[in-house]
Amino acid sequence: MKIGGVHYRTIWRGEGGTAVCIIDQTKLPHEFETVWLETLGDAAQAIATMQVRGAPLIGITAAYGLCFALGEDASDKALDGACETLAATRPTAVNLRWALNEMRLALKPVAPAERAAAAYAKADRLADQDVETCRLIGHHGQKVIAEIAARKTSPVNILTHCNAGWLACVDWGTALSPIYQAHDAGVQVHVWVDETRPRNQGAALTAFELGAHGVPHTVIADNAGGHLMQHGQVDLCIVGCDRMTATGDAANKIGTYLKALAAKDNGVPFYVALPASTVDWTISDGVREITIEERSAAEVTHMTGLTENGEIVTVQVTAPGSHAANPAFDVTPARLVTGLMTERGVAPATREGLAQLFPGMAGDAAA
Ligand code: MRU
Repeated sequence: MKIGGVHYRTIWRGEGGTAVCIIDQTKLPHEFETVWLETLGDAAQAIATMQVRGAPLIGITAAYGLCFALGEDASDKALDGACETLAATRPTAVNLRWALNEMRLALKPVAPAERAAAAYAKADRLADQDVETCRLIGHHGQKVIAEIAARKTSPVNILTHCNAGWLACVDWGTALSPIYQAHDAGVQVHVWVDETRPRNQGAALTAFELGAHGVPHTVIADNAGGHLMQHGQVDLCIVGCDRMTATGDAANKIGTYLKALAAKDNGVPFYVALPASTVDWTISDGVREITIEERSAAEVTHMTGLTENGEIVTVQVTAPGSHAANPAFDVTPARLVTGLMTERGVAPATREGLAQLFPGMAGDAAA
């Protein structure tokens, strides 16, 4: 995607070097800062503090984190230790574990002397693969938007939650990829962007990237979606996913479930866009089996923004002493999901729908 006319991925290797560069997403949309990561600690910290975030991107960052660790010590013990450190940074998005497993499978048979070079080659391949996967999610998903557009004379109104755009991946995004591709193909779209408290990934990141690409959009308070649906102002919801069960239950940013309930009540189609790497084929009950990350209460009690003097400041919004809880994700049961947009096509959110698109995957996981 382009920022100020320059094409960026969210993570890239330095020319001939071992460090990787990221866009510090904690500074967006007010400052566009890039940061070099060089050590396992840098990568783990960037994921934990959400300088990088979004399920696919944290997986790729972890893959490079493993490269840094192996550059220091390429033993089996170091490989296992680094995987453990990185896997512990964020518990819900399964892409993190998937990327580490892919790396481990590729690297275990390689002699330690060659492991670091092999790790970089594999991490680069995973990054390129993520770009193509997200492009394909958009290619298939935009057909759903085009079908709705064909029945309307005004723009298709799409509601999205959190940020499942290119900033959450290496490029393109998952939920936003169909929107970009429909827009680029000349389909008139307008996006309702949920602000997504407490960290405001919608207001700060989704609105930023849609604006940079010229996609018409409006930021709304998280609680506005149900009202807009009741008044016929939402044609379609598309959200991303951090972990999907083999039966189609979807864990995504806190608040997604409430949007799905409102969509069901109002007959609004509700789609989840995701790559196969987001499916945890070993589980089938999302509410019981998906670990939900609990983040700092300070993310709820405080907010960060830009003052009129151009300073970025954090202010407290609660009374001193008020306790706050901060579950970062919730689970939308498959029965509320109209369909899945994936790199292999669009399918129902069911065990059969997933198995048809990705034959053998559920069986492989059980083996
Ligand atoms: O806590 P975050 O910002 O990492 O949460 C991100 C989301 O919930 C996204 O919707 C999800 O990762 C899908 S990414 C394409």
